[in-house]
Amino acid sequence: MEADRPVDKLTEAEARAELARLADLLDAANRAYYQADAPVMPDAEFDALKRRNAAIEARFPALKRADSPTEQVGAPPAEGFRKIRHAVRMLSLANAFDEGDLREFDARIRRYLGLKDDAPLAYTAEPKIDGVSLSLRYEAGRLIHAATRGDGETGEDVTANAATIGEIPRRLTGAPDILEVRGEVYMRHADFQALNARAAETGGRTFANPRNAAAGSLRQLDPEITRARPLSFFAYSWGALSEPLGATQMAALDRLRGLGFAVNPLTRICATLDELIAHYREIETRRPDLGYDIDGVVYKVDDLALQARLGFRSTTPRWAIAHKFAAETAWTVLEGIDIQVGRTGALSPVARLRPINVGGVLVSNATLHNEDYIEGRDSKGAPIREGRDIRVGDRVKVYRAGDVIPKVADVDLGARPADAQPFAFPETCPECGSPAVREPGDSVRRCTGGLICPAQAVERLKHFVSRGAFDIEGLGAKQIEAFHNDDQLPVRTPADIFTLEERDGANLTRLKNRMGWGETSARNLFRAIDERRRIPLHRMIFALGIRHVGETAAQLLARHFGSWRAFETCLTGPAEEAMAELTAINGVGPVMAQSLIDAFANEAERRAIDELAAHLEIEDAEAPRVADSAIAGKTLVFTGTLTRMTRAEAKARAEALGAKVAGSVSARTDLLVAGEGAGSKAGKAEALGVTVIDEDAWLDLIGA
Ligand code: IVH
Repeated sequence: MEADRPVDKLTEAEARAELARLADLLDAANRAYYQADAPVMPDAEFDALKRRNAAIEARFPALKRADSPTEQVGAPPAEGFRKIRHAVRMLSLANAFDEGDLREFDARIRRYLGLKDDAPLAYTAEPKIDGVSLSLRYEAGRLIHAATRGDGETGEDVTANAATIGEIPRRLTGAPDILEVRGEVYMRHADFQALNARAAETGGRTFANPRNAAAGSLRQLDPEITRARPLSFFAYSWGALSEPLGATQMAALDRLRGLGFAVNPLTRICATLDELIAHYREIETRRPDLGYDIDGVVYKVDDLALQARLGFRSTTPRWAIAHKFAAETAWTVLEGIDIQVGRTGALSPVARLRPINVGGVLVSNATLHNEDYIEGRDSKGAPIREGRDIRVGDRVKVYRAGDVIPKVADVDLGARPADAQPFAFPETCPECGSPAVREPGDSVRRCTGGLICPAQAVERLKHFVSRGAFDIEGLGAKQIEAFHNDDQLPVRTPADIFTLEERDGANLTRLKNRMGWGETSARNLFRAIDERRRIPLHRMIFALGIRHVGETAAQLLARHFGSWRAFETCLTGPAEEAMAELTAINGVGPVMAQSLIDAFANEAERRAIDELAAHLEIEDAEAPRVADSAIAGKTLVFTGTLTRMTRAEAKARAEALGAKVAGSVSARTDLLVAGEGAGSKAGKAEALGVTVIDEDAWLDLIGA
């Protein structure tokens, strides 16, 4: 039977066969879209197949299948990767893009440790592997579990899959009792090409690059599929340990190599910055012949005692940096400029490009940043690209670095069409028509429509249901758009999501009739919504979509305040007090603090937040893991000169142990650490009855 035979010509037997074929096709398409993030057909084709299925069912109601696609929305969650909480957080790395950044990195470390410019300070340098990071936990020499990085705190349990990788030993001899080995799972070029060739032959799925292939293969629900995929592993770091692996990074890596792990053979010790740069160049030269993808060189302070002193910022270690290779570029034609309106009202110009291959990836869109950038000026009005503006029709240079969003970097004036016009950046929002204004000092033009702007409202709702936020199964970007536009069952604010079921009534008539949901999918949606009526504090804060408050900041805020009540009380109290409390949190600056205060001071926003909170039970944040230290929860002040660590290190150490560090002594101070030559602060502290200790006592207190 032809696949596009008119429905009214089908015999009953043909209809039955066609329904079976459509059920299979649509199910496969759904799974590819929702579980593998790899659509196998365009949306329009999917919708057409779904309509054909519904038409056949309408003509032959008795043939409707138990697994009818009309009853299905999305696919079940990528089932059953158990979550694993990392005993030691898995961090990422800060980036350096040139030698200047590298020199600054070294200078920062010396300042922090109080080392002179010429004091010896060795680093290791090794390739940055472009794969997926993995943490392997061994207890008594046996592989206990393997977890992906996830959000750094919690990853996915991929133990069964990791155990199929040849370069990951399942048993170790002579290893510490507890040993967490961290490294990168990657795929070699030859293996990647063979895998894609096989997939192409058998009509299977091909991957865009080795990293996607490695990630996709590691996250297979069926370990036998992972086994059939040729994955490799380099160890470069560790998490929890029952005993140290060595005194230096290099010694620790040697130990891991001795235990049977692959350690990258291009790892070197470098005694000076010049040696680091020389090794960077060498790795860059050998890059094309390595047989696997790397995207830079990682430098780490070699001495592990110094690493421990340097510690971490909120998401990256102070003792390491990734020196990235220069980006790939290519020239193509700028066919148009679209304006997108984001969640915070920002108008972002997006370049529509004649599709072009940039370093192995097909690029058809790129960012143009903002209107100044298009005009050839930076945020301070100084010329960029020597002042050359960018026009539709121009030949432009596209730049792509790793995962960074591609951008238009330059323009070829020699190739400019005679009739090309300067780009007129809109002064009204293309979505709602409200004025789009630029605040002084802001490089971005923003729609002033707030929640009345449909684009902003929809983007905020999409953010609200997104992965790190409420993450509601069956309610993704597509469904949000449909609900937002629906006049019978609208979802215009987050609170509306939680009244959907009640508004539709027991028979779900509106959902079924107007929006075409089936009984089962509707019930599933309501169950998924109900599951989120209880929500962890950090997810709630992140979900609000407040400008400058990303996932990391939301976690910092949640850890600091502990409860929604405390968070809200601070933000709705006097603005000056809120500002003082917020900026005292390590990782929260005045810009983010002001943005939080503004959000809660805006009446409409406030109402939306209150209405939402009324539907929820917001769980308190877990106490910080360091809460058992002697100074957890205390407020400390440092004064005078410390001789054995810099002020920056002392502050970071105190904060890592859960204390707050204030600049001046008040009745709320718990402890004053007085170094040499301490002056008036010590006197004031004594007058207020605050405990004063000297540097030795401080070192004892933190166990240094
Ligand atoms: S060290 C605490 N070394 O790059 C620091 N990371 O952009 C742990 N990566 O999440 C990371 N090669 O997945 C380190 N030689 C290397 C690496 C490496 C690749 C990855 C790792 C990390 C990401 C940060």
